[in-house]
Amino acid sequence: MPVLRSLVDTSSETYQANRAAQLAVLDQLTEQLELAIAGGGERYTQRHRDRGKLPVRERLELLLDPDSPFLELSALAAWGTEFTVGATVVTGIGVVSGVECVVIGHDPTVRGGAMNPYSLKKTLRALEIARVNRLPVINLVESGGADLPTQAELFVPAGRIFHELTELSAMAIPTIALVFGNSTAGGAYVPGMCDYAVLVDRQAKVFLGGPPLVKMATGEDADDEALGGAEMHSRVSGLSDHFAADEHDAIRIGREIMARINWRKLGPAPALDPTPPRYDPEEILGIVSADIKVPFDPREILARTVDGSEFDEYKPLYGTSLVTGWAQVHGYPVGVLANHRGVLFSEEAKKASEFILLANQTDTPLIFLQNTTGYMVGTEYEQGGIIKDGAKMINAVTNSAVPHLTINMASSFGAGNYGMSGRAYDPRLMFAWPGAKLAVMGAAQLAGVLSIVGRASAASTGRPFDEEADKKRTAAIEAQIEAESHAFYVTARLYDDGIIDPRDTRTVLGMSLSAVHSNTVAGRRGFGVFRM
Ligand code: COA
Repeated sequence: MPVLRSLVDTSSETYQANRAAQLAVLDQLTEQLELAIAGGGERYTQRHRDRGKLPVRERLELLLDPDSPFLELSALAAWGTEFTVGATVVTGIGVVSGVECVVIGHDPTVRGGAMNPYSLKKTLRALEIARVNRLPVINLVESGGADLPTQAELFVPAGRIFHELTELSAMAIPTIALVFGNSTAGGAYVPGMCDYAVLVDRQAKVFLGGPPLVKMATGEDADDEALGGAEMHSRVSGLSDHFAADEHDAIRIGREIMARINWRKLGPAPALDPTPPRYDPEEILGIVSADIKVPFDPREILARTVDGSEFDEYKPLYGTSLVTGWAQVHGYPVGVLANHRGVLFSEEAKKASEFILLANQTDTPLIFLQNTTGYMVGTEYEQGGIIKDGAKMINAVTNSAVPHLTINMASSFGAGNYGMSGRAYDPRLMFAWPGAKLAVMGAAQLAGVLSIVGRASAASTGRPFDEEADKKRTAAIEAQIEAESHAFYVTARLYDDGIIDPRDTRTVLGMSLSAVHSNTVAGRRGFGVFRM
């Protein structure tokens, strides 16, 4: 395989400036991750510990295989909203007794672990990741159920959690509930719907209605233990399959269950002993442009990401603002589509379409590295059929059946987001680098378009156009779109599965590829490869 040769000058001013800019956004990311890890903060965490309970991340650590990696998802969910960053739940892909699975753990230190609209989206996304990639699910349950003030946004869609859990079971994807505390009302259906339920003595409370509600409804005086304790459910109702003496015992039992599910991954195994890249991933920080308008060569990123920096480029002389080619990441064969100079022309769209068809012929997963301002506009391009060519690419991306992994490296604007397998195109996993932006178009362009439209509208109705007001409005809109394009804003709303350190790109792709290979990896069949 041809080896990529890097042209990066690590002593250049541009490199140093880029690196400084990336380190600054990474500091901001660390700050927000620390907030997510802190959950409900010191006071609530201490109260939780004083009750003899473990914080969610300690439960998680005990559950996962020692020294195994954990790919946390949507860590900044709810960032910048009225809710705590992280959204009261920790989700991710980890290894338990040698089995890769999705873990969903409530954080009871944040508003009793109650689920708000962001926690719901995050939970549903984790369950979707489990379904499409065929990953078993372990729930670490301790939640006050619905966040009551936001129930109107939650109640109806939250039913989907139980739908997903039982659907997973129907697909023979095992589901486990380890119940550490409150699991009431709708929450009771989590252990109710899982294949396996483990309840912790004197902590688990699994009932449709607690004592006050029962009193209101029927006048009965009931107590927690008789209504939904671990002993009752283990001896009387039979909801609990395993009675756990304490939290450590529950985690031990959960690990044992996973060890006995007789799990086999359906995708092909990776090549053994893959060669690391020949260039240092640390250098990615100096390659990504500080100014997103300045393009950078994605081959420089690939040289620091793919096995042995080996990249077999497809059609290198045609449609050159999109780089396509074959490589291997941690031993898994992949096809790569990476934007180079931002704009997608007809040639790039046709090249991408052919390349996606080829990957489907050979059952090869695809990696999309986004840095695009979208498809080219203008008379020449419209007359040249840019809509039809973009449609070909979007068609190919939609109907491609091999797993897609997408990373927004710097920008993802307009229909480029769709063509490059953005969220709406079902990439199995999707991440962004912390400086990346995403929006329908750039903030300045969007504000400018609105101003032109406003001016034309005034002219057509004969109204005077207030230049001063327009200037103010344009500035305000530009600031709003700029804020909404920010990677934290985007990830907060679950439009990707998390923000990653660019230096971890190879590791994250390797873990993601391993996860998607839990399921079969097969391309779309039916047509031959259209030569466009
Ligand atoms: N919605 C919104 N806020 C909630 C909440 C919920 N479902 N459950 C708890 N909270 C809030 C509390 O008001 C409290 O806020 P504060 O500290 O600002 O006063 C904070 O979360 C911690 O709750 P607290 O009751 O002190 O925690 P706890 O660990 O002692 O008890 C629960 C946790 C979940 C057992 C208890 O809060 C509870 O019973 N909540 C209601 C459960 C319920 O009926 N949910 C509806 C199911 S659909």
